[in-house]
Amino acid sequence: MATVRDLRAKAGEEPITMLTAYDAPTAEIVDEAGVDVVLVGDSVGNARLGYETTVPVTVDGIAHHVGAVSRAVEDALVVADMPFLSFGVDEKDSLENAGRMLKEEGAHAVKLESGPHTVDLTEKMVQLGIPVMAHLGLTPQRVNQYGGYPRQGTDQDEAERILDLARAHEDAGAFSLVLEHVPSNLAAEITEAIDIPTIGIGAGPHCDGQVLVLTDAVGLSEWSPSFSKQFGNVREEMETAVGDYVAAVDSGEFPAEEHSHEEADLDDLY
Ligand code: KIV
Repeated sequence: MATVRDLRAKAGEEPITMLTAYDAPTAEIVDEAGVDVVLVGDSVGNARLGYETTVPVTVDGIAHHVGAVSRAVEDALVVADMPFLSFGVDEKDSLENAGRMLKEEGAHAVKLESGPHTVDLTEKMVQLGIPVMAHLGLTPQRVNQYGGYPRQGTDQDEAERILDLARAHEDAGAFSLVLEHVPSNLAAEITEAIDIPTIGIGAGPHCDGQVLVLTDAVGLSEWSPSFSKQFGNVREEMETAVGDYVAAVDSGEFPAEEHSHEEADLDDLY
């Protein structure tokens, strides 16, 4: 099993790989491929649950997926993404919600979409033994404030604010930092400025690692952001398989003899 220490040791030596997963079979595939970190992202909301954003994802909802992923993963570090308003409102609730992911669902760490309000909370979680991955730049739980998913850190003040927050979260004890949709030169500077690993998504090649949403990476999503890349076309593969199934049932080709069984000793009914 990978640990947060392994991840820190890998930073700057070898690229860190992180992918999301939301269920047992895909988590198994991701883990067996050798990914370092499996993130049970609140992106499950739009990637798998049919919501437009991540805002409606609940603690019970994410817990369900964290449990499924933890049961399937043998080697990677499992990180539970804390949903919108499950942290930061009330300290006790924040700690209990995050603690539940480790105590009841088998995660090794939590991720918090970060800001000035998560510095002290990160410190408290770390003191209690809950490893925290910070997340700066574009934090999609703020979609209603942004009015979309705009690039972040594009002017000097904003870039400095993100760098200051990165330092503050490192000082608070975060073990790594996701940087989303920021200029690659800003990500390079932050990576240089802090010792904990940076993991980029839409943040260029200079981070210590990369993360993508699995449904985007394998080509299951209908739409994916411009900074993502499809490494396969699972949607097309599924469409073909499902179409073939429907055609085979319609034509009577399925089920064939090898898919059925007869019991010679059965009496005629009635
Ligand atoms: O929820 C998620 O999948 C994420 C990643 C995009 C980093 O937060």
